[in-house]
Amino acid sequence: MTPTSHLRLGVNIDHVATVRNARGGDYPDPVRAALLAAAAGADGITAHLREDRRHITDADIARLAAELTVPLNLEMAATDEMLSIALRHRPHAACIVPEKREERTTEGGIDAAGQHNRLAPMVAELRNANIRVSLFIEPDARQIEAALRLGAPVVELHTGRYCELEGEARAAELRRLTDAAALAARNGIEVHAGHGLTFDNVAPIAAIPQVRELNIGHFLVGEAIFIGLAESIRRMRAEMDAAR
Ligand code: PXP
Repeated sequence: MTPTSHLRLGVNIDHVATVRNARGGDYPDPVRAALLAAAAGADGITAHLREDRRHITDADIARLAAELTVPLNLEMAATDEMLSIALRHRPHAACIVPEKREERTTEGGIDAAGQHNRLAPMVAELRNANIRVSLFIEPDARQIEAALRLGAPVVELHTGRYCELEGEARAAELRRLTDAAALAARNGIEVHAGHGLTFDNVAPIAAIPQVRELNIGHFLVGEAIFIGLAESIRRMRAEMDAAR
């Protein structure tokens, strides 16, 4: 494997906080999970500070920023509050995601094309603070062109639809992801991907040569119940490497 083909794994620890918050105490601790994930081979840690703080809290972000020795990727809505939190903690990366209070999870990509005027100053401020900005988008040429106009160095392609579909429809969505990854990379944008990935569906995404990082959370935390977090990360790492 050449160094350029290494596919990074970002482990999203949001749902460790979901379990913690179910009882309102401080167990299980998502920072402990993040440190364990890094020791098990995660290349980075991802956490989404949602506006309603349903899982990760402000205190978690402060501790992650202080304690992690691998890069922290902060997922954030495009709001002034989240921008000021990002500027305070200066994570390695910030991934701008759409957020609706009533959704169970991030249901689609951000409309980078339709929201250019709102996103442009935010992308600029984050970049000025040396935070690597990523936009979580649908695998769509229009959104990639918008990311380019915004000066975002990274896009994360939403794999949720690919994961939900089956058969020919899934194959068609995989082609959209493959084409989008190639278009972004041709334009000098680094490509990440994530949402809904599991041991069973990760290989075709990991095989897209332009994809440099996958962010995976819910499945890994769920699988940790059965085989432990370290083992679930090691198996995901192995599936990703085998597909490369
Ligand atoms: N990438 C982004 C931008 C996300 O919002 C999420 C979900 O928080 C993920 C990746 C991880 O998705 P999942 O938890 O389904 O693996």
